[in-house]
Amino acid sequence: MDEAIKRIKKDFNSQLEIASSSSEIDQIKVRFLGKKGPIQDLMRSLKDVSREERPKVGKMINDLKEELSHSCQHTFDALLHKEEKIKLESQKMDVTLPGRKRFLGRPHPITQIVTDILAIFKEMGFSIQYGPNIESDFYNFESLNFPEDHPARDMQDTFYFSKEMLLRTHTSNIQVRLMEKEDLPIRVACPGKAFRNENISARSHVFFHQIEGVYIDKGVSFGDLLATLKAFFSKIFKREIKMRFRASYFPFVEPGLEADIECLVCSAKGCKICKETGWLEVAGAGMIHPNVLKAGKIDPEEYSGFAWCFGIERLQMLLHNIKDIRLFTENDQRFLSQF
Ligand code: DAH
Repeated sequence: MDEAIKRIKKDFNSQLEIASSSSEIDQIKVRFLGKKGPIQDLMRSLKDVSREERPKVGKMINDLKEELSHSCQHTFDALLHKEEKIKLESQKMDVTLPGRKRFLGRPHPITQIVTDILAIFKEMGFSIQYGPNIESDFYNFESLNFPEDHPARDMQDTFYFSKEMLLRTHTSNIQVRLMEKEDLPIRVACPGKAFRNENISARSHVFFHQIEGVYIDKGVSFGDLLATLKAFFSKIFKREIKMRFRASYFPFVEPGLEADIECLVCSAKGCKICKETGWLEVAGAGMIHPNVLKAGKIDPEEYSGFAWCFGIERLQMLLHNIKDIRLFTENDQRFLSQF
């Protein structure tokens, strides 16, 4: 019996040693401990053992059975542990690594500032309208008091499609369109693109954004214009802003002016940005010329109005100290994601 047990153990161990999966271990278990296995054979041979010897031999067989089954379990556990470890190792992660940043989309900086500007004008009682980019000579020039041979037409290099059609050179093209279709009084702000055939540089571009404002009613005065501009610039810069108004010429306004705000960079002391003047030009404006009111079928004896316009890129550049207008059109995420 001892011999038989030894042989079984030896066989069993040599097989278990090379088992490399849980199913192989199962097979070995069945092979040795199953009904057709050598242990059952031993059990069956018990009947041939003498009565006195039987309990002792029976115990030996039971011990063997237990030992083999325990070994199977042990090998199985070890294998599981190894497999688990390999799996875990492959899933290893470094919890100290910084998280991945998700890219968040947002409105373009021009859209952002237009939204802020429009909110201010809405609060002041203006409604919002949009004019066409492709425009006729009439609305862009002629109706705005630029006769065909007027030297002011040379001020703007224009992209013409034909003698009659062009890309608008300013948002002022909306003025007579508004007069034609709106009921009086008119109080409208119009954001949009303008196009000029200029060399692209840090300070100028072939297209840029403007916002035009038009206010027409009985008794609208020059003082109303100045107060409106001052109120607007103080609101957008979120503090009381000093302004200065200089006489200027635009054919569609009389008197015409250019508006400056105190230099935000040097608090009006004089710096590179304001070219040592302490002032930054921000808008063109004026009282709407009687000829323009007439072109819009409004009686200049009865009504008066003002119009103004400012460049949106320029304002955003002043607000954020941006030195190159080209950044707005280059789609560089490093720039855009700062807004
Ligand atoms: N349209 C002019 C330009 O783009 C700016 C301008 C000046 C608009 C005076 C106005 C105004 O409405 O009153 O250069």
